[in-house]
Amino acid sequence: TEGGSETAKRNAGERAAEEVTDGFVVGLGTGSTAAYAIEAIGRAVDDGLDVRGIPTSFQSRQLALEVGIPLTSLDAVDGVDLAIDGADQVRDNPSPNAETDANATADNGTLIKGGGGAHAREKLVAAAADRYLVVADPSKLIPELDRSVPVEILPAAHTTVAERVRELGGEPTLRDAEHKDGPVVTDNGNLVLDVAFGPIESPAELATTLAGIPGVVEHGLFIELADATYVGTDDGVEKRTY
Ligand code: A5P
Repeated sequence: TEGGSETAKRNAGERAAEEVTDGFVVGLGTGSTAAYAIEAIGRAVDDGLDVRGIPTSFQSRQLALEVGIPLTSLDAVDGVDLAIDGADQVRDNPSPNAETDANATADNGTLIKGGGGAHAREKLVAAAADRYLVVADPSKLIPELDRSVPVEILPAAHTTVAERVRELGGEPTLRDAEHKDGPVVTDNGNLVLDVAFGPIESPAELATTLAGIPGVVEHGLFIELADATYVGTDDGVEKRTY
């Protein structure tokens, strides 16, 4: 995606991959930044690291197979030790008076995901993981989330969900496929509404409301899931922990 340099993404992905140790079950995220982590884990497997990966999309599965990571699935393991994933936006409010203004920083680490339509499986793996590391370049960080929220929906529900989110003040767009006539169909056979709400003041509240709409399979707001964000720059990695 546009924004960050490949070096920044690579630094973030490779640093996060160093957290993977012997015997781990590791969640493999989707997108160009997580791909650097997957490639690094593949190299470590070549060098003898014993891990099993759980891909979050067709794309991350293909890449994991290509680089030789043994794969498993959520229903075949007791738990997930670590998951590494990218994000489309990461809330990062560097409030100078955090102590007096706890609200300003309380939502830091909240994510918007689903730019690649993979957020439903990504959230399953994130929620199952003991530790969930986000890898991002600085272009993803923002004091207040304002990107459209991807909402995966049952195909039969696209008009009723669209109507409901309009009532909530959102502007829904059915995501269209680039090289196919018609809508994007997710890895789960569903459709995606990208809903523009403008700046999102209370992401947790919006998340609860969206999750309660019949026909919504999963939305792209990730609340209190991230343990840390590894922000890659051209010179290294800055770590934010939550
Ligand atoms: C997939 O649906 C998204 O949640 C991705 O994790 C996100 O789009 C990050 O991708 P990039 O690292 O390529 O920006």
